[in-house]
Amino acid sequence: MNAQQGTTPEAAPVDTRPYSPGLEGVIAAETGLALVDGENGRLLYRGYRIGDLVERGSYGAITNLLWTGEWDPTVKLATTPVPPAVMTVLRTLPKTAKPMDALRTAVSMWGATQDITWPPTPEQAKAITAFSPSALAAFARLRAGKEPVDPDPSLDLVDGFLYQLNGERADPGTIRALDAYFVVGAEHGLNASTFAARVIVATRSDMVSAVVGAIGALKGPLHGGAPSEVVEQIHEVGSPDRAEAWVRDAVDKGVRLMGFGHRVYRAYDPRAAALRKVAESMDKKPDWLELAISIEDVALRVLAEKHPDRALKTNVEYYAAPVLMGVGLTPDLFPAAFALARTAGWTAHIIEQAAANKLIRPDAIYTGPGERELPAS
Ligand code: CMC
Repeated sequence: MNAQQGTTPEAAPVDTRPYSPGLEGVIAAETGLALVDGENGRLLYRGYRIGDLVERGSYGAITNLLWTGEWDPTVKLATTPVPPAVMTVLRTLPKTAKPMDALRTAVSMWGATQDITWPPTPEQAKAITAFSPSALAAFARLRAGKEPVDPDPSLDLVDGFLYQLNGERADPGTIRALDAYFVVGAEHGLNASTFAARVIVATRSDMVSAVVGAIGALKGPLHGGAPSEVVEQIHEVGSPDRAEAWVRDAVDKGVRLMGFGHRVYRAYDPRAAALRKVAESMDKKPDWLELAISIEDVALRVLAEKHPDRALKTNVEYYAAPVLMGVGLTPDLFPAAFALARTAGWTAHIIEQAAANKLIRPDAIYTGPGERELPAS
């Protein structure tokens, strides 16, 4: 017997139930929102191909499709004002705060000013989705020493967000490019942040709490934080002739190449394909886009060589980076822009979860000591 540790524990019970680290391959929900077909590189929102939605839809129409199931390309969604209490909070945040932290805080504070009741509704979803861009734009201006800009209710969400961010209307090409990004970012099945949102709302907590939790989950570099790191990675490589050596060295050291790999996709991410087209067609594309394309070729070759048993292809974040840069966002705004877009999907999942609710409570295999006595005092 050890006086500090108590009695020598009995052996812990042997638990042979199947365990899937990271819940990989575990089915934890039914959804009618998106089909993420990883083998064939297909993404459908309520049956419609993502490529078609990018070409013929707008974010306003996509939000309506996700929340109601109806396809109406004329639907618009304008941004809404930041209530004074939330603006006061945004004004007190340090200018150095990460935009994701500012957005998470603003959404949480906004929720405290609203009467958000159970069950979650499309009206609540619309209110959160329309408020969040105004809050992010206000924070971005305040940290630059500028006054926030009121929403223009005649503008669709992306157009309105850029107006509130920059204080002037963006050109049609810029609006179109960011809108395409918002369309591809809107929904993606049971990804980590959406799962977090469903877990929270399944306790019959409110929609705002679930969105706040989802923003926290999206912030990490393995999920929504990747595109800003893509930019750093491309700048580190610097020129096409350095790509081969840089990529090999990084992969040999176990560094994860940002913008590559996916839990579900074994084929090329269709969102990356759609955004590559958008990036290439932009007037204001970043001057490193060609370099990014040549690094991608090398990375795909090296990853295939190093991981012959796990197909690691380009993911959405790789080409999100040049699109977001091209529309004038700074890299630290990229994850928050992703959050604005994904709010449509989160809130649609929250409504779906609540409609057939069951508390989400998985189990764990216990690996600690067996039963034992407390040390003698
Ligand atoms: N670069 C180098 N090696 C990689 C990468 C990568 N980007 N991704 C996975 N691997 C390797 C990994 O090291 C592991 O190798 P080993 O078996 O030898 O240890 C193997 O591939 C399997 O990786 P995993 O971490 O078990 O796979 P996962 O499904 O848990 O990870 C991922 C998915 C997205 C977290 C991962 O691919 C990654 O870290 N990618 C880089 C970050 C990134 O681009 N994130 C954006 C994801 S797309 C946006 C979204 O939909 O959320």
